[in-house]
Amino acid sequence: MAFLVVGAGSVAADQGKPMVVGGTLASVAEAPWAVVLTNSAAVRESKRWCGGVLVAPDKVLTAAHCARQPITSYGVVQGRADLSNREVGRFSAVSKVWVHPAYSTTTNRNDFAVLTLKKPMPGVPVLRLETSPKADRRGAVPTVYGWGDTDGTGPDDTLQKVAVPDLGDATCTGIKGYTENGYTAAANVCAGYLDGTGDACQGDSGGPLVLNGRLLGIVSWGNGCAKEGYPGVYAEVAPVVKTLLAQVRAVPSQVR
Ligand code: ARG
Repeated sequence: MAFLVVGAGSVAADQGKPMVVGGTLASVAEAPWAVVLTNSAAVRESKRWCGGVLVAPDKVLTAAHCARQPITSYGVVQGRADLSNREVGRFSAVSKVWVHPAYSTTTNRNDFAVLTLKKPMPGVPVLRLETSPKADRRGAVPTVYGWGDTDGTGPDDTLQKVAVPDLGDATCTGIKGYTENGYTAAANVCAGYLDGTGDACQGDSGGPLVLNGRLLGIVSWGNGCAKEGYPGVYAEVAPVVKTLLAQVRAVPSQVR
């Protein structure tokens, strides 16, 4: 965890470089399915812990590395672009946490978790999951959304977005530290800028990487944020979409 993957909820980034870094303000209207995962152990006043994405009225997809705290410590907030504005948005506690059984803390593979909401959010548009592994191709330009660190490139705890070009798997497999940290062509998306223009950052993990109205990936890890030579690494949805959908469609054991 120390070098490449910066843990969820960490306050300060390990780098002095900007961190959604290099992005612009995003509205709830354009990204209604983007949610904040809060945790009582978070040090920030907003309790921001990670990002997430509403994929069914009662299901949120996030990163496995974001979902390792006690279930009662979590909350999900939707509809609040500025986390200091508690007048707007919806909140739900979490009644169930499913972590991908093949999630590995050593290779960071299968960095996916599905949370079941105690209080579903009907009427909020959900994001479809990408089903084609071909969607991850060099030259595509997906957008990442999140409330994470900006290091001064935007307001804190506010929904930001940045377009991050898909650099292709070869770019990330060609980075020594990245193969060592588990970057896998068939399971990850390599997106961002080699010149440090923009990136996801601490607090964005678990949030959506969106292409053509579908969820291409989940923010997973990177070396620093918007650091020259080091793009963002995303957990790719399509290769595991069947496993994820089985959870998304699972009827919650709890009464709604
Ligand atoms: N692991 C970080 C988190 O928990 C997000 C890492 C994304 N980093 C990046 N440079 N794209 O929030």
